[in-house]
Amino acid sequence: MPSEPTVSPSVLMLIAGAKGAIGTTVALAAAQMTKDPEPILSGLTTAQRFPELGDSSQIAVAGWDTLPIPVEEAVRRHGVVPEAQWRDHASHLSRIEIRPAPPEKAPLAAQVEALQGDMRQFMARYPSARPVLVNLLPAAWDIAQLHRLETLDAMLQTTAFLPDLAYVLAAVLCDIPVVNFTPNTVEFPVVCREARRRGVPLAGRDGKTGQTYFKVVLASALKARSLYVDGWYSLNILGNADGRNLMDPDRASGKLHNKTQLLDEILGYKVGAAYGESSHKVHIDYYPPRGDAKEAWDVIDFKGIFGLPMSLRLNLQGRDSILAAPMAIDLARWVAALKLAGIGGPIPELGFYFKKAVGDGPPLTFQEQLAALEHLARRISAERK
Ligand SMILES: NC(=O)c1ccc[n+]([C@@H]2O[C@H](COP(=O)([O-])OP(=O)(O)OC[C@H]3O[C@@H](n4cnc5c(N)ncnc54)[C@H](O)[C@@H]3O)[C@@H](O)[C@H]2O)c1
Repeated sequence: MPSEPTVSPSVLMLIAGAKGAIGTTVALAAAQMTKDPEPILSGLTTAQRFPELGDSSQIAVAGWDTLPIPVEEAVRRHGVVPEAQWRDHASHLSRIEIRPAPPEKAPLAAQVEALQGDMRQFMARYPSARPVLVNLLPAAWDIAQLHRLETLDAMLQTTAFLPDLAYVLAAVLCDIPVVNFTPNTVEFPVVCREARRRGVPLAGRDGKTGQTYFKVVLASALKARSLYVDGWYSLNILGNADGRNLMDPDRASGKLHNKTQLLDEILGYKVGAAYGESSHKVHIDYYPPRGDAKEAWDVIDFKGIFGLPMSLRLNLQGRDSILAAPMAIDLARWVAALKLAGIGGPIPELGFYFKKAVGDGPPLTFQEQLAALEHLARRISAERK
């Protein structure tokens, strides 16, 4: 095992998919914060929240991946941050412990047991840190029959499951809060019930990092002015592993559904009803030259009084993992604080961070999402008193 770090972390992020683009960017952010926190803390939404968790700049990272390469090599391959900016953190990166994923073919119960063992060892290594599971596995497809299972035992015996489920069940059974940043469904009724019973917070699903974040802001602004949205065309190009993975229509369908459904929900009507079909179109294209530097275009057609048409163009030149990593850290801090306050189960109030918030009655407009966060923060401090 690598040698012990010298600082005492406040939160331990246990990352499924830790050598991926977001996972390695989180690791780099954690390393940066041990030396010079400001460039990272200034990009967090929770830096000034939850003093009860301890120093917000001290985050430990551990986790699992199927890639048999050192973390530094994964960081280099993803190319999210230029090497000149992370070379000084190489020794910190080499101390991060990333274990192999459980064998893909092993029964779910065996995978869960193995992961629980890993989780206990990680927690023993960082006894003062509050552990959180952050799911950053690749986008996959939904498995419908899991929604119908009624007991934990039946779920543990199932043979068709996503690898995500093993991590999430292991975490819930170890009383570790969960952040599901992926579009993959893991919040099955059995999982939610067990999380509620144990007081384990579940946050998810599908991080709202770039185009969809601005879609919520703009749709809320148009709605607030009673401007009628007649159509919305969204295009994304990206060249990272997530983009390549999303070229598989089965894997992309969850993400496209999350991206599409939320506009009608915010506006309160079906965009395109006049045409007898949705005029909200979302496309994702894998375009290797861009790597992590994602670009998105939106064409928004809307109408004012007398039904007169107007149009708006948005061009976002973003960076996928640079937008996502601070959100993963923020979410880890939210669920750690929720757990400490004794608030468990699905947390719909975290809808600000997600395309498809879990739980009942998530906030829909941007204003509602900000208000829900403040309300949740007040609830956390009230429960702590
Ligand atoms: N970047 C964004 O803006 C954004 C926004 C919303 C959602 N997401 C989602 O976040 C997730 C992670 O994105 P990313 O860009 O880091 O993806 P990535 O493909 O770079 O990383 C996924 C990692 O998971 C590893 N992996 C695969 N199977 C595994 C298993 N069984 N156990 C452990 N590790 C395993 C892979 O080796 C890889 O390192 C994806 O589901 C993506 O759709 C990303």
